[in-house]
Amino acid sequence: MKSLILFFLCILFQLRSTGQETTIYINADQGRYTIDKNIYGHFAEHLGRCIYDGIYIGEDNQRIPNTNGIRNDIINALKELRVGVLRWPGGCFADTYHWKDGVGPKDQRPTLVNQWWGGVTEDNGFGTHDFLNLCEMIGAEPYLAANVGSGTVRELADWVQYVNHDGTSPMADWRRENGREKPWDVKYWGVGNEMWGCGGHMTVEYYANIYKQYATFMTDWSNTSKLFRIASGATGNDYHWTEVLMRDVPRNLIEGVALHSYAVIDWSNKGDAVDFSEGQYFRTMTEALKMEEYVTRHSTIMDKYDPEKKIALAVDEWGGWYNVEEGTNPGFLYQQNTMRDAMIAGATLNIFNNHADRVRMANIAQTVNVLQAVILTKEEKMILTPTYHVMKMYNVHQDATLVPIEVFDGAKYELEGKGLPAISCSASIDGSGTMHISLVNIDAHNAHPVKLLIRGIEMEKISGSMLGSENLQDHNSFDQPDKIVPQSFNDFEVGDEEVQVMLRPFSVVVLSIETT
Ligand code: AHR
Repeated sequence: MKSLILFFLCILFQLRSTGQETTIYINADQGRYTIDKNIYGHFAEHLGRCIYDGIYIGEDNQRIPNTNGIRNDIINALKELRVGVLRWPGGCFADTYHWKDGVGPKDQRPTLVNQWWGGVTEDNGFGTHDFLNLCEMIGAEPYLAANVGSGTVRELADWVQYVNHDGTSPMADWRRENGREKPWDVKYWGVGNEMWGCGGHMTVEYYANIYKQYATFMTDWSNTSKLFRIASGATGNDYHWTEVLMRDVPRNLIEGVALHSYAVIDWSNKGDAVDFSEGQYFRTMTEALKMEEYVTRHSTIMDKYDPEKKIALAVDEWGGWYNVEEGTNPGFLYQQNTMRDAMIAGATLNIFNNHADRVRMANIAQTVNVLQAVILTKEEKMILTPTYHVMKMYNVHQDATLVPIEVFDGAKYELEGKGLPAISCSASIDGSGTMHISLVNIDAHNAHPVKLLIRGIEMEKISGSMLGSENLQDHNSFDQPDKIVPQSFNDFEVGDEEVQVMLRPFSVVVLSIETT
């Protein structure tokens, strides 16, 4: 009787499927690499309403609950998200930022004009202490992006001393005067940003020398963690950039190389964030999935010079970029966030997980109110975007062991004679032995059946969560903040060493498999 019911369930399951079956082999006992929690990193720039009127509303704000000027609702949301690492203060802004103007009594700080983003005047109210205290509050590692383009070697050397030196020194004493006794022990440092562009329009050959100079004078003051210096990296497929950095910078001066890649359909008209066609969606996903190629090829170059994989690839800017929302400041890069962004997030994070041997940091751009934000705010209201929910569903992979997978007969998402892989997947086993499998179906129309062949563990209990919606353009709004939230998922059948899953169109699923 039991097998008859199972038979009919299988028939029903097959009938509902419209796409071809994808088979994924999962070798659960073959893991070698750890998925660094910093792959689940974020980026907060002085840009538009990310810092000011986003994260930071000022100590005097009586209307919105805050801690030292930082919104409590944002603190709680970022804590729950388990942000691995947070990059600040830019971006292009970093190479114009002079950190000494942002410490000490707030009423005595000089103003600055944010020349990159909207030409607005900032009062330097949010500075080093505010950022590093925020990181402590949310439990994230800070990642400071240093000013190489318009700063000095000494300015950076002083910044390192200010935040990391525990003894007596000019900068550590100044930090104490400004109210902070113990150093913050900042490990991650970016040495400039986009040096091929807003960081100074340099050739990589020139920058490699500048990098060595800056990196040499970054003293390791801390007893606990060694400095992790990240060189400003290539954009997209500029493989020459990575080749020269890896060739010219000695191993003792570098711990990471950056890479930036945005999913943009056309830089001269990026399309609307919400009101987009299927053609535009397809093109966005085509761009987003190029991350696989970029990460593979940059990693291959790094393998040549660093076969032991000591140097990390840090994708410290990534995400979808559309036209700025109408009626908002064009320099502020505010955009809504739909199911399309959930697809970008799910598929990209699977790519990063699967390249955990080399990709050990990634920072989605950006945290609040800018580009592919995880949080949007409007006065006292705050919403969590579909991207937030994907990143939260995926945080189970943080610091877990990557499980190797092989995809066969992968279903295609087809449009106008072109095809993209419809299904993406990654898997890991955490410290308690639970395996997590994250699956994405980017197909705008077809549900796809996936057969997971799981070897090397005894499966005990399976549960799942899913993010999906009726339309690709659906999003959370200030009037409907919970239109898209994760739901429990049970569209799967468990057999001997296999799990059959049905993925509905444009959905993200995370399965948790307890093992014995
Ligand atoms: O994230 C917005 C901008 O994009 C950053 O400031 C810059 O680094 C990149 O070009």
